[in-house]
Formats: sequence, structure tokens, C-alpha cells
Amino acid sequence: MTRFSFDLHATDGTARTGKITTPRGEIRTPAFMPVGTAATVKAMLPESVRATGADILLGNTYHLMLRPGAERIARLGGLHKFMNWERPILTDSGGFQVMSLADLRKLTEEGVTFRSHVDGSKHHLTPERSMEIQRLLGSDIVMAFDECPALPATDDEVARAMRLSMRWAERSREAFGDRPGHALFGIMQGGVTRELRKESAEALKAIGFEGYAIGGLAVGEGQEAMFGVLDYAPGFLPEDKPRYLMGVGKPDDIVGAVKRGVDMMDCVLPSRSGRTGQAWTRRGQVNIKNARHADDPRPLDEHCTCPACTGYSRAYLHHVFRAGEMISGMLLTWHNLHYFQEIMEGMRQAISEGRFAAWEAEFHAQRADGDI
Ligand code: GUN
Ligand code: ZN
Repeated sequence: MTRFSFDLHATDGTARTGKITTPRGEIRTPAFMPVGTAATVKAMLPESVRATGADILLGNTYHLMLRPGAERIARLGGLHKFMNWERPILTDSGGFQVMSLADLRKLTEEGVTFRSHVDGSKHHLTPERSMEIQRLLGSDIVMAFDECPALPATDDEVARAMRLSMRWAERSREAFGDRPGHALFGIMQGGVTRELRKESAEALKAIGFEGYAIGGLAVGEGQEAMFGVLDYAPGFLPEDKPRYLMGVGKPDDIVGAVKRGVDMMDCVLPSRSGRTGQAWTRRGQVNIKNARHADDPRPLDEHCTCPACTGYSRAYLHHVFRAGEMISGMLLTWHNLHYFQEIMEGMRQAISEGRFAAWEAEFHAQRADGDI
């Protein structure tokens, strides 16, 4: 059987390009993972998500354990079969979503007890249960169970959450066991404090993981502070393992993260903003709700080869959004995911040819501030 592995093909400054190999297929890095929280990338068929260039999707322990339930998905043949996506799936471990979505949370050394945001039912998550759920789902890349402190938080609070997350990382490693072809990633915490990030990285490396995530960013600290952490944090992690920046981001966040040595990212932004009428393009953002698009025969982006841009005008996209037609979310999501994957492919090519700086300069030069 194919084993889980990571091969670095080229570096350019601190930017890297390579390939993750799994039994369910290869993941070209740097990789952007569309979010399929509830066993669907909203408004998209799986084959359409693939057509945008995605090699891997993200799923969520928290949502799937509540609805329809991990044991049910296992009985039905696992998450890949359930959602009709055969390629790799990474699942987040649940702690982060409990803290942002669940009601009446209670955190102890053992884990977290909470009430479902869906129906108020009571649940318990621990590192052991999170590993079990992610195994039942059949996740290819399993995330360690962690706590990401809500901001604003004091230094003491960030340190406490990081150290608890490191004890949970060890329990996650133990509970994950030996599962050839599947990978367990540890998650670095420590806020915006260099010493805490260093301590977290050392703790994770001592345990040993197939990949390492940088958590606790993009939680309201702003891009400058995030890039400040990314100026050193990737360098604390092993060079020969994938580095995953969780929950990022806007196109310029993604480019800045890759420049600083990140290999994988995920974000709801392209899919969520597609459903609210926001398009992301090479030249900047388009708010399709705006009345100035009502008579515009041009596509969103004349250089884009996605179905929204090759088949439809801004006027049509404006009309179907205003009319509340479902095709609006479908077309804008497709365009956004296509554009995000085009950025990733552009960076992979540029890094492999040693021209990342020129690619980045062109990326920024094309972009306008505000709506276009
Ligand atoms: N998603 C975005 N940030 C985080 C984080 O710090 N931890 C986890 N588990 N998921 C995330
Ligand atoms: Zn397009």
C-alpha cells in the first residue's frame, strides 16, 4: 500500500513546493483546501470542486459528530463514499469549532463538554474521542485535538492553552495508534509570542508527527501580526514535513504565508463569500450586488477560464444574485475556488522555476484596492 509521504521538490527563499503522497492520491503543495464542513463544499458538486484544481478537502469533526454522527457515516462506508469524494480529506479535530460554535462549554484537563449548536444535546470531546471520530470518518489527515484560546487573551491564558494543547497532542498521538496510509498532524499554539511558539514546536517535535500545523492565527490579530509570527514559526518546524496554516485566508494572506514557508491552507472564504455575492479576482474584489453591474456585459474576469466567466456576464450574475436564484452561489463559488487554485498553481510553478519574487510582485501589481 502507498504510504503517507512528503517530498520537497524546490525552494525559493523560504517558499517551498512539493508533493504529499497518500493512498487516495497526491496533494500538490502549496495546497489550498476548500472547506466541506458538513460533508459538502456548499453549492458545489464534488466533481466541480475537483475541476477547480483541488487535490484535498477539509471536513469537520465537530459538525459531523453532531449531524449526521460519526458512527452513522462509518456504517455508510466512511466520509469519502458518503460525500462522493474519493481523494484525500483532512479533518479538523473539533476543539476549535466547539470554542467558536457550541453552547455552555466546559473545559477540563480531560477534554471539553458542550451543548450542540444544532439541537442543544450534550456532548463530550477528548483527544481520544476526536481520534476515534476521525478514524470512523476515514480521514486521511487527522488533526490533533487542541485548544485555541479566544482572543483577546492574556499571555498566561495563551501559555496555559498551549501547554494543555501539547498534553492533548501527546494523548492524540497515543490514541491515533499505528495507521499506515493515514497521517496525524500536531498543531502549534502560542499566540503571537515567539517563546511560546518555540516551546510548542519543541513539544510537538518531541512527540513526532507526519505534519505540523500552525494554529491560533487568523483569529483577529491582523495580517501584520500574523506575518510577524510566520516570519519565524515555520522555521521552528521540521523541513521535511508538511506545514499547514489553519483557517487562512484572503488571497494576499495565502501568498504571504507561502512566501514564509507554509505548504497547506484552508479557508471558507472562497465558498462563503461566493454565496454572499463577493467574487475574488486577479484584479481585486467584485461585489456583484452592486447596481453598477446591472448592465455590464463583461465577465467577472476576462482572463478567467471558469464556467462563471466563460458563460455569463456581470449583468447576469448581478440579476441571479438579486433574484435569490441558487445558480448565483454556484457560479460565484466556482469562480472563487477556481481563482484560489489558480493562485496556488501560479505559486507552485514560480517556486519550482525560482521566480517567486517576480510572481509575487506581479500578483500585487495587478490588484486594485476596493471593488473593481
Ligand atoms: N482552525 C483555525 N485555527 C485553528 C486552530 O488553532 N486549531 C484548530 N484545531 N483548528 C483551527
Ligand atoms: Zn471565473
